[in-house]
Amino acid sequence: MYDELKGAYQKTPMDIRALAEKNRDYIIERRRYYHQNPELSMKEYETTAAIRADLEALAAESGVANLDIQTFEDYPGLTALLDTGKPGRTLLLRADIDALPIQECTGLPFASRNPGVMHACGHDTHIAMLLGAAKILMEPSVRETLRGKVKFIFQSAEETAGGSKYYIEHGVLDGVDAVFGLHTWGTLPAPYLCVDSGKRMASTDNFTIKIKGLKAHGAAPHLGHDTIVAASAVVMALQSFVSRENDPLNPLVLTVGKFHGGNMYNTICGDTELEGTIRTFSNELRNKLEEDLSSIVSNTAAAYGCTAELAIRHMHPAIINSSEELNRIARDAATKLYGEEGIRSMDSLMSGEDFSLYMEKVPGFFGFVGAYNEAKGLVHSNHHEKFTADEDALERGSALTAQFAADYLWGE
Ligand code: NI
Repeated sequence: MYDELKGAYQKTPMDIRALAEKNRDYIIERRRYYHQNPELSMKEYETTAAIRADLEALAAESGVANLDIQTFEDYPGLTALLDTGKPGRTLLLRADIDALPIQECTGLPFASRNPGVMHACGHDTHIAMLLGAAKILMEPSVRETLRGKVKFIFQSAEETAGGSKYYIEHGVLDGVDAVFGLHTWGTLPAPYLCVDSGKRMASTDNFTIKIKGLKAHGAAPHLGHDTIVAASAVVMALQSFVSRENDPLNPLVLTVGKFHGGNMYNTICGDTELEGTIRTFSNELRNKLEEDLSSIVSNTAAAYGCTAELAIRHMHPAIINSSEELNRIARDAATKLYGEEGIRSMDSLMSGEDFSLYMEKVPGFFGFVGAYNEAKGLVHSNHHEKFTADEDALERGSALTAQFAADYLWGE
């Protein structure tokens, strides 16, 4: 509302918590729909169409005539811009929408109808929570009190560690002042919200090591150069790098998850390939790892008469909630909604999230919504075939998103 005397738009009190409660059934119903119809990364075209229809229905029911929905010709996912018509900042609210190649074993009545594909990371809940937030923000009683613009992004291919890159390259962040996102998390108790600042999720970089030696008869190892032995030494040397070369106060995970070599039990193997992933919170470490690891890998292999090449694929940096303003707005929003007792702290995670690619360009905040509930048997972590979220927490995720948006757009 415009205050003639102060020459400014005035914040009006609004009960976002009550609105989220009112929308509870809607949020759960949409969550179940998306849960039942999961699609893999880069294949979320039906999901995108359903989200588009949901947003259009929300706009129609709340009298929003100018919701600007943008889809992409060669890429799933969409953005929607809600322009309040009043001057102000622009906030991007993000949900990821892809599922995983996992056969669901939850036994839920709304389990996946798509064999071998499952929303095992809770991205179904992210879609539903963001739709719930959109519903609250579009509600006339809330919308009229907002200023600036809210942009929603329903993003493809988070699981393949870089789906967000496409949208950034296609200008989704143009004119955006800040970005906000949430993740449903299997070890955080429901229905609590986590609005911690600082290190949240680690950087993700993947690597391949190709080791070349010399084939020989398995009974005459001295005539060959055994890449299985050399690769084993490389794996051990990499773990020693973590424990001896890295500052123990600086978390670093170096996991070799694939070890492929040989096809005969009695032949000295001439080629072995390793693949793995590197996680850390330090950009400085991230930048010098390639050189350090290359030297360890090639020198270790050389000690066994083999050659080795390391190639690192940089995926995304760490998520570090470092904006004082956004950290404060997020904590105040959560407290305003559910009190201090509605908030839980959670240790930083060594898993990664490509939300950090947005945060590389604009200030951002990334929070978590609890999914764990022992009394309800919800004890499995994300990516488990039995992972499922506590639906009682979802309205809280929607409320936090909407409250954060309202408060951010008002600014100081
Ligand atoms: Ni996820």
